[in-house]
Parts: sequence; structure tokens; C-alpha cells
Amino acid sequence: MKAFIFDLDGVITDSAEYHYLAWKALGEDLGIPIDREFNETLKGVSRTESLERILRLGHRENDFSLEEKEKLATKKNSHYVSLIAKITSADILPGIETFLSELREAGYKIGMASASKNAQMVTRQLGLLHAFDHIVDAATVMDSKPHPEVFLKAAEALAVDPKDCIGVEDAVAGIEAIRAAGMFAVGIGERNVLIEADIVFTDTRDLTLENVLTRI
Ligand code: BG6
Ligand code: MG
Repeated sequence: MKAFIFDLDGVITDSAEYHYLAWKALGEDLGIPIDREFNETLKGVSRTESLERILRLGHRENDFSLEEKEKLATKKNSHYVSLIAKITSADILPGIETFLSELREAGYKIGMASASKNAQMVTRQLGLLHAFDHIVDAATVMDSKPHPEVFLKAAEALAVDPKDCIGVEDAVAGIEAIRAAGMFAVGIGERNVLIEADIVFTDTRDLTLENVLTRI
């Protein structure tokens, strides 16, 4: 194995919670209640597709024009951006900084494959831009997760064969994308949710090189 490619939201920082809060508030405006269980299905899913799923949940998918949907997505994003404006390096999930340093020292290439158009900004706020050799975000990708494109682009930018890459993800769609890219899939979350992951850690503190390499 030569490279690790990380998802951002829910792996490096708990911004998944802020995405949830912003969608939940928009759902309340639209009379569509969103709970945590439904939110699981939005993890790793692009902004536009997330909105579509929410509208379908409320049987309101035909109630809005394309322009109105864009306004709704922009409203959610403004709320999300205001929530993450306050995040700092203190919001990096436990064990992640140590793991990134461990990988750097061991000579692994380190990439990011995020479905978020805010990935660069969030990573900058966390003070982690220097920790990644390359960041691929949603702005440069045609097909969203579970399509493997974002992971394949990251591998290409790192000049590493996908089969020599380990992907780290908290979302079902993300694990599918890693597997479809032909990479080894590390899940962060619940084993019964991330069924297709090769290995799963419930706590980012357990993400160590030894714990990963001994399970491949
Ligand atoms: C993913 C999140 O990383 O990015 C999703 O898991 C989110 O919840 C998606 O919808 C798109 O993010 P953004 O910041 O472009 O709206
Ligand atoms: Mg995620």
C-alpha cells in the first residue's frame, strides 16, 4: 500500500453534524421532518442530490422549479457555511492528526476525496491543508459518490495505482465508491451500516497504521 485517501466530512472532522443541522432546518421550512436515520442516507451525497432526496421524502419533488431548487440548495449552503465558520483545529476528530503524521513519517502519499464544494475551506479552517498532498473536491468531479471518480482522480493526482490505495470513509455511498475504485475500504462508523467496508473502526482514535495494516 502506498497511499491513503480520506473523505473529509465525518472522517477528518464532524462537519457531517453541521450538514445535518442545515438540512434539518431547511426541511423544517419545507414541512419535511429529517431525522438522523434519514440523514445517514445523505452522507457523502452531493448537495443537489441531497435536496432531491429530501424533496422526495416529503413527496414535494415536483413542487419546485430548477431555479427554486437552486435557491433552496444555496440557502442550505449559506446556513452550513455560517455553522462551519467557527470550526478550528480543535474540531479535528480524535486521533486524526496523529494518524496523518504517522502516515507522513512512514512515507505514504496522502489525499482527500470529498463530495463537498466546501472541502478546501473546511480543511483550511482545520489548519490541515499542509497535511494533504492533493485534495479533490466536488467542484472538479462529474459523477458523485458512489461513483468512484473522486477517489480515482485523487489516486491519479498522487500517481499511485488504485489497488495500492486505502480509502477512508464514513458514508455508505463513499465505501461503495472506494470499492468501485478498486481500493481497500476503511469505514468509520457502525459495522451494521458500513456493510461493504473491508474493515470498520467506530472510533477515529483506533485509526492507526498498525491497526489498518494488520487487518488487510
Ligand atoms: C459530503 C457530505 O462530504 O459533501 C454530504 O457528506 C454533503 O453530506 C456533500 O451533502 C456536499 O457538500 P457541499 O459542502 O458541497 O454542500
Ligand atoms: Mg463523509
